[in-house]
Amino acid sequence: MAVDYTTRDGVAVITLNNPPVNGLGLATRAGIMDGLARADRDPAIVAIVLTGAGKAFSGGADITEFNTPKATQEPTLATVIRAVEGSAKPVVAAIHSVAMGGGLELALGAHYRVAVPGAQIALPEVKLGLLPGAGGTQRLPRAIGLEAALNMIVSGVPVMSEKLAQSGLFDEMAEGDVLEAALAFARRAAARDMGAGGTHPRLRDRKIQHDNAAGFIQFARNSVAAVAKHFPAPGKCIDAIEAGVLKGFDQGLAFERECFVALVQTPESRALRHAFFGERAASKIPDVPSDTPVRAIKQVAVIGAGTMGGGIAMNFVNAGLPVTLLETKLEALERGLATIRKNYETTVKKGKLTQEALESRMALIKPTLSYDDLAGADLIVEAVFEELGVKEQVFRRLDEVAKPGAILASNTSTLDLNKIAAFTKRPADIVGMHFFSPANVMKLLEVVRGKDTAKDALATVMQIAKQIKKTAVVSGVCDGFIGNRMVEQYVRQALFMLEEGALPAQIDGAIERFGFAMGPFRMSDLAGNDIGWAIRKRRYQEQPDMHYSKIADRLCETGRFGQKTGGGWYDYVAGDRNARPSALVDQMIVAYSNEVGRARRKIGDDEIVERLVFALVNEGAKILAEGIASKASDIDMVYLTGYGFPLSRGGPMLYADTVGLYNVERAMARYAAQPNGDAWQIAPLITELAAAGRGFNG
Ligand code: NAI
Repeated sequence: MAVDYTTRDGVAVITLNNPPVNGLGLATRAGIMDGLARADRDPAIVAIVLTGAGKAFSGGADITEFNTPKATQEPTLATVIRAVEGSAKPVVAAIHSVAMGGGLELALGAHYRVAVPGAQIALPEVKLGLLPGAGGTQRLPRAIGLEAALNMIVSGVPVMSEKLAQSGLFDEMAEGDVLEAALAFARRAAARDMGAGGTHPRLRDRKIQHDNAAGFIQFARNSVAAVAKHFPAPGKCIDAIEAGVLKGFDQGLAFERECFVALVQTPESRALRHAFFGERAASKIPDVPSDTPVRAIKQVAVIGAGTMGGGIAMNFVNAGLPVTLLETKLEALERGLATIRKNYETTVKKGKLTQEALESRMALIKPTLSYDDLAGADLIVEAVFEELGVKEQVFRRLDEVAKPGAILASNTSTLDLNKIAAFTKRPADIVGMHFFSPANVMKLLEVVRGKDTAKDALATVMQIAKQIKKTAVVSGVCDGFIGNRMVEQYVRQALFMLEEGALPAQIDGAIERFGFAMGPFRMSDLAGNDIGWAIRKRRYQEQPDMHYSKIADRLCETGRFGQKTGGGWYDYVAGDRNARPSALVDQMIVAYSNEVGRARRKIGDDEIVERLVFALVNEGAKILAEGIASKASDIDMVYLTGYGFPLSRGGPMLYADTVGLYNVERAMARYAAQPNGDAWQIAPLITELAAAGRGFNG
């Protein structure tokens, strides 16, 4: 039963009952229509109360019906709202907990609204690249005024009901039981409306309040253009609201619908919806049922208080979990603790943390030099030097001291997790937790599943990831896991393009205009060019057949490691992180092309973007085919949350689908025929899907 119908002394109560948040799926919408008809037929009923069971009035559209025929099947939400608004008997919405999206639009269709404090009120459609498509852009401004409504619609941010108490949205703010208050209100309204000749107030008949609507709308447009460059939805929200101001309710409503239909089709909305569902899907592991029992994690330990260890410890502490932090030397331990404190102090200075909270977080960290202090830990995360020998020492020692059932995790970014597991007698308890730098800030956590990792250990780590607010994506064991394995091919293409005719600023500029937060050369200067150099040196040994441009090695040989040495691909002035093109480096690049006999040519921005992004896509396809990632959206989540891939494009795999795999494959074949074309070993999965007319995401 998606909707319950009861009567209370002459008032019909229509209760949405579609857990968890009374999403307005087809059955719920049909149930409301039935309830309205039943109340209308019954002469004993004088008024109707519309409310929600459980934890919400209504959270809006039913996300399980997204992209299914049910979403657009009659009765649509617009039909339901018309029926509510047109009811011959007064309808009172009783609002509590959550009224969002379509849920709020439904309430706006009612003749009266009674609410309790503490309810979250929002039209969050813009966050999915859409606008409220069932009258929200028309009715909310008539309820709370142009300015407040525009802010809510364009930002999608929830406002608490008590903040809207004086706004005209609610006819009564109730304390206590919202249903009882609404019932009493409904009876009074019925008596009053009869006196008024049987008409009920409708928001659509109200005027939109503002002294200077045109000026405000122009101001809003300018502000939105600056902050939402890559997204059309916020601008469309303003257009729809403006239509209501200029042309009245009916034309505004029709225009809102037009905008909604257009926005659903945009790649940006598709990307945002993909990311929304991708985030949820990432926590689902095909062969690990969601009801797998998890191990209790009450006490955490971190080994190594360096760059990563400190940030990792902060994550757990921020979630209220005590952390034992182990180092080999007192000096390193003290340095690590001081860095953590300094990070928190910066947050205090920004006003986002109180001094007391800082002290209580620091008090949750127990520094130690002794492995004996790890005996109580339920989860131990290792973040020591990236050398297998050091990892071996640590894991052998952990195997001796850790309690049975403790999860032993490694933050290694390149080493073989199965080898690490083999250092212990408990490989089922070993898992990778690959954090990204800075670990206390970056959302991404690659959870690496070894060949023996137990399902409950994996499920536990996924749950703890949620607790520390990370986007966790499961990766199988391979060199670089999902993210770094793909980025290596991206960087490889960037270096080839330098050799073939481009310069760092041109490559960075092209990919940044595409929407990346930072191009490959600015990124490398920030992380340190020596890191990639070390990886390449290892590659030359392990995979002598794989060919690289040696231009980056030349740069490193001159000691230009990036920002930390005052120069890398770019020049840097002390105290300023701005990258300035370096004449010296640019000359070095040209000289290198001459030396290796590569005729330099002008490379267009389109080619730069294609070669960089399709290099990611090609490696992503191999990762998918090998089962290192279990779904394409997992790869996209890695890139959206860990590598600054533009959210408006939805990640490399969705972007490839948007371009069409047939076109992607043709472009790859074209690049394969150019100099350095041997890097394009097209993934068989791409050929297969392109031939079938399919994409990575179906
Ligand atoms: P780091 O050099 O900053 O820190 C390592 C810390 O471990 C040092 O404080 C050192 O004193 C300590 N240590 C070394 N041997 C130890 C032992 N036997 N017992 C206890 N402590 C010991 O290195 P970083 O950058 O924090 O890297 C740590 C791990 O995280 C490596 O496996 C690295 O590959 C991985 N990683 C690093 C990322 C980065 O961006 N720096 C990103 C993701 C993973």
